[in-house]
Amino acid sequence: MKVLIVGTGYVGLVTGVCFASQGHEVLCVDADSQKVRPLQAGDCPIYEDGLQSLLREQLRAGRLRFAEDVPQTAAYEVALIAVGTPSRADGAADLTNVFAVAKDLGQKLQPRAVVATKSTVPVGTGDKLERMLVDMGRTDLHVASTPEFLREGTAIKDTLYPPRLVFGIADAHSAEVLKVLHAGVEAPAVVCSRATAEMIKYASNAFLATKISFINEIANICARVDADVSQVAIGMGMDPRIGGSFLRAGLGYGGSCFPKDTRALVNIAGDVDYDFKLLKAVVEVNQLQRTAPLRQLTDWLNDLSGKHIAILGVAFKPGTDDTRESAALELAHALREQGARLTFYDPVVRRCPVHGSASIPVLDDPYLAVGDADAAVVVTEWPEIVDLDWPLVRQQMRQPFLYDGRNVLEPHTMQSLGFTFANVGRRAMPAALQV
Ligand code: UDX
Repeated sequence: MKVLIVGTGYVGLVTGVCFASQGHEVLCVDADSQKVRPLQAGDCPIYEDGLQSLLREQLRAGRLRFAEDVPQTAAYEVALIAVGTPSRADGAADLTNVFAVAKDLGQKLQPRAVVATKSTVPVGTGDKLERMLVDMGRTDLHVASTPEFLREGTAIKDTLYPPRLVFGIADAHSAEVLKVLHAGVEAPAVVCSRATAEMIKYASNAFLATKISFINEIANICARVDADVSQVAIGMGMDPRIGGSFLRAGLGYGGSCFPKDTRALVNIAGDVDYDFKLLKAVVEVNQLQRTAPLRQLTDWLNDLSGKHIAILGVAFKPGTDDTRESAALELAHALREQGARLTFYDPVVRRCPVHGSASIPVLDDPYLAVGDADAAVVVTEWPEIVDLDWPLVRQQMRQPFLYDGRNVLEPHTMQSLGFTFANVGRRAMPAALQV
């Protein structure tokens, strides 16, 4: 099948490479020549496990191409819109790029092509796109919605082996085309209206974000009643009605999707006069969770002015170099406002774009980062951080304060190494009771 994908961000690029690997003929278009040129040469602009080699393989096989423009006469059976939908100041998704791309496609696609949104778009966008294309005289095009659910770090696996596919359609031809496009993907498909498909995407992300904020609030209570949130999560997760995933307490959710999509869904509800109280609380809890270490550090060090704090982990989660809405940025911003001196370590991120300042270099040597530090905060649970030589870390630091913002370090061990230790509601089990 001839597939056109517009937008080579995480979603568009991974989708394009994966569809090519399944035998489709794929053209990925991005207006940004800075992105397209390296991609044409086989250089992947993002850090994603396995993507670079699969990309090169598909380029060599001639199934994947990159261009800056959609060709004038584009004989593609399906065109996927995968451009960014950033948050506007009010939290709503900005659809400028989506509509600009759809207009361009309306001028260039051959009759019967299916234009499908992959980007996360507000409910009702598919209908609006269809109206726009009809107004352009393109009653011969079909509009569909096929949202993606890939996670950074496991994007290829999530795309090739997803738990489900979602086809939002308004006609049988679109359903057929989406079926053929996904023929190589073994997963059950939910075939529904476009609005339902658009809502499935938001509701899924909002629900996962809710689980995270929920367990973070439980963690905060655990810390006050001397219970262990890690074991609470295990105990809860064993109930199949709850499920164990997305119950890791920590410094909250970040990344390119959850923060943006939760805010957008609050907005979508508001637009139809519905006050989504639960999701507003989820967003607020997440916000508070970001700066939890600040309160503990102030308790320990009193005045943070001039104190040296080492931030361990800058990516919003392990397995990616993405720093969008990373807890590290928010925490760093808050610490700098208190006059703290910061050093950063991350295994892959090399610069930390702290809000309100030029980006700060990130060290690739953790022991250098903690050298002479008054306190250290684990922000990202990279294996490289979990497995640090902690006795050496302790030796390097000036003062013993260590905050584990992802509950990945064993409290007893850290205390026995001489750290004054805190985390997000994970308690040390008395040694005598450990089995
Ligand atoms: C997410 C969705 O999972 C994916 O389906 C969607 O398409 C895009 O957004 P991603 O942002 O790559 O994917 O990361 P994910 O692994 O879902 O984690 C999101 C954030 O939640 C991270 O900051 C992570 O640290 C945090 N998180 C996740 C927790 O704090 N606790 C958890 O238990 C799980």
